[in-house]
Amino acid sequence: MKDIINVYAGIFNSTLDEFFMRRFDCPSPVREAVAYAMTGGGKRLRPMLCYLGAEFAGKSCEEVGDFALAVELIHGYSLIHDDMPCMDNDTLRRGKPTTHVKFGEGVALLAGDAMLNAAYEVLLGAVNSSRDVLAASYIAKYAGTTGMIGGQCTDITDNNGEGYDENALLSMYSRKTSGLLIAALLSGAVSCGCTKEEEIDLLNFADYLGVAYQITDDILDCTSSEEVLGKNVGSDKKSDKNTYVALFGLENAQKKARDYTHRAVACLAKYGEKAEKLTELCHYLVGRNY
Ligand code: IPE
Ligand code: IPE
Ligand code: MG
Ligand code: MG
Ligand code: MG
Repeated sequence: MKDIINVYAGIFNSTLDEFFMRRFDCPSPVREAVAYAMTGGGKRLRPMLCYLGAEFAGKSCEEVGDFALAVELIHGYSLIHDDMPCMDNDTLRRGKPTTHVKFGEGVALLAGDAMLNAAYEVLLGAVNSSRDVLAASYIAKYAGTTGMIGGQCTDITDNNGEGYDENALLSMYSRKTSGLLIAALLSGAVSCGCTKEEEIDLLNFADYLGVAYQITDDILDCTSSEEVLGKNVGSDKKSDKNTYVALFGLENAQKKARDYTHRAVACLAKYGEKAEKLTELCHYLVGRNY
């Protein structure tokens, strides 16, 4: 699976290079901050999901290059802001100092803003049909308050486990992390003409996958090292975050991540070979160490 992930990451990185070379108009030093945040690392999971969505619908990656770019720009901006002192206050990301540490908070804030706007500029330029409009609207919805921003909002406001039951926690994960995975997968599949039934199954798949992905991220925050992870470890504990590990323990977290992986896979079981790569990716991610 690692090889397949690298192939899709390579496709994405070519689009990104072309974007910086030809399409990104931005003064220094925000330009350098955006390039710093977007290049030199990252699993490129969201672009890959967008590409696999297109393939699921019988088309190829090339059809959805700009949808993948838009979602990864939004992901990149969310990470810059997530690391800032007003949020998680982290200093290491993808093996390098975080963007605000390197460029200062003002530039980092603007770099994030610039990436969000660039994402919608790219997206609007890619819209050619009513299917594309729907695909783009899913990105806006699941990157916004229904999804990532809504989840981040709960993440930073409800601390210390107060008022938290399991469902509230899982619903926060569904927003903050599944949100962009849903945006990526659905935009790829919907713009390439998947059916309504497929759309619903893919949405549920990405939702379960995102929760499993976030629980694994929380586990790695406790069990990994900065060298392997490329991020500060112990960051959740330092900020008294509500995580699955903090509330229910490491072993239950591992069980839950596997449980949600199986739920995700079950959503696509009826599609057989057509969903094979998505299914394999899902199994791979729950066992990742980075
Ligand atoms: C980090 O996302 C934030 C989470 C939702 C866990 P990734 O783990 O996908 O980060 P990169 O893009 O690979 O660095
Ligand atoms: C996910 O949560 C962050 C976003 C949705 C942007 P985390 O705060 O746990 O992500 P990391 O661990 O900093 O990558
Ligand atoms: Mg966070
Ligand atoms: Mg964080
Ligand atoms: Mg984390």
